[in-house]
Amino acid sequence: MNLAIIYTSVTGNTKELAAILGGFIKGFGVDVQMFSIEEFPLRQLGQYDAVVIGTYTWGNGEIPEEMLPLYWAFENQETETIVTGVFGTGDQFYPHFCGAVDKFRDMLYVQSELAVTLKIELTPQLQDLKRCRKFAEIVVSRLRQNCPAGMDKIS
Ligand SMILES: Cc1cc2nc3c(=O)[nH]c(=O)nc-3n(C[C@H](O)[C@H](O)[C@H](O)COP(=O)(O)O)c2cc1C
Repeated sequence: MNLAIIYTSVTGNTKELAAILGGFIKGFGVDVQMFSIEEFPLRQLGQYDAVVIGTYTWGNGEIPEEMLPLYWAFENQETETIVTGVFGTGDQFYPHFCGAVDKFRDMLYVQSELAVTLKIELTPQLQDLKRCRKFAEIVVSRLRQNCPAGMDKIS
């Protein structure tokens, strides 16, 4: 089973959240490859069993520009069997809190096996950890349903 976390972050909030979620996913026994969006080879999207996307929100509830090629890749490549999750940080001050998460969610629901979404206010806090762990648990459990051959053996 191979899982990629692909994130974008300007001031560090979403990167921090990506690291927390990556840690929980690893804790559930799944290898995680972590990429900033600039590092991720879009042509290899279809090689992943699971892709977890992390994004902040820009403008008026918009997806940041650097994430659009990834959004289009899901629309244009064969991604229907990829298990996905989308998380983001945002600011409740804005009318469309984490609007980019909602936009990715609507697309991923159609183009992939969307398992779960998560929205966090700015920097992740201690009280957010329970939701972060739950997000990781749901992604891993959906991945194991989809890839039974790749399941870890519990002795
Ligand atoms: C110009 C500007 C527009 C923003 N628009 C939104 C928005 O529409 N909705 C939202 O939830 N957050 C919005 N934010 C807040 C950021 O998404 C938030 O600070 C986020 O945690 C930044 O993530 P990063 O630290 O990973 O870069 C905006 C921030 C800026 C500076």
